[in-house]
Amino acid sequence: DLSVSWLGMKMSSPLFNASGVYCRTREELELVRRSAAGAVVTKSCTLEPRAGNPEPRYRRTALGSINSMGLPNEGYRYYLDYAQAYEDAKPLFLSVSGMTLDDTLTILAELAALKLPCLPEVNLSCPNLPGKPQLGYDFAASAEALEAISRAYARPFGVKLPPYFDPAHFAAMAAVLNAFPLLRFVTCINSVGNGLVIDLDSESAVIKPKGGLGGLGGDYVLPTALANVREFAVLLADKQVIGCGGVKSGAEAFMHILAGATAVQVGTCLHEEGVSAFDRIEAELAAIMQAKGYQRLDEFRGRLKTL
Ligand code: DHB
Repeated sequence: DLSVSWLGMKMSSPLFNASGVYCRTREELELVRRSAAGAVVTKSCTLEPRAGNPEPRYRRTALGSINSMGLPNEGYRYYLDYAQAYEDAKPLFLSVSGMTLDDTLTILAELAALKLPCLPEVNLSCPNLPGKPQLGYDFAASAEALEAISRAYARPFGVKLPPYFDPAHFAAMAAVLNAFPLLRFVTCINSVGNGLVIDLDSESAVIKPKGGLGGLGGDYVLPTALANVREFAVLLADKQVIGCGGVKSGAEAFMHILAGATAVQVGTCLHEEGVSAFDRIEAELAAIMQAKGYQRLDEFRGRLKTL
């Protein structure tokens, strides 16, 4: 039994797509909805549609992926329309990433007024907008944003966090997050921002935007993702942590849940393999659980052993 219940929702599987992958168009969202995934999350949306950064802007590498998409999306009304027509017991999340805090508040106020059956995952961590720092790396600005979001939205919501790398930063961000009771979940992690992948033969960067800098996903990021899931699962009492980063088989999904993840998102692997990845990873997770004698996820969730 791979099901998980949280925030009054039931997911038949803990796995779903990471925002950005298979979720920009209605057609892609429907592929995830009809797949073995336990939920669906949309591409981060802005007030107006965006074409995003110049191509090439995503590249697969031996150890994962690098991207600097630049928030290509159809504009928030498109995703609200999708949510309005959505009729499935599978939970739907709306990723929101306004170009300004005011834009985010506008989108959230409209979402609240429509009372749509979807939960927002507010993105505090897009690394790919030239000249715009990641909000999640500014603790005071994050607190102000969460204050304004709590007031404007006035319903349960979640945030997508960037990866942190220092215990002082885990503690500082956890203190900020713990001050907001409407904040019910955090998704850890967004891509590890502003890496540089170099192709040896051509002596060149492999993506065009920002001189080649982009967000890393895949194998590069798994230990960082697990550390963030673990630390926030311990530090955020009464909030759920959704794991994201480096999941490509049942093994990594198991590790995220062992570190404390309620559910687990799949990004790079989903992009490379398509939605059949959910069937495969679920079967692998079930096999690992059977071999270990676990029947349900809550028998090992958060039970990481330390030495
Ligand atoms: C994009 C990348 C992200 O990591 C994110 O959180 C939002 C948007 C992008 O480049 O489109």
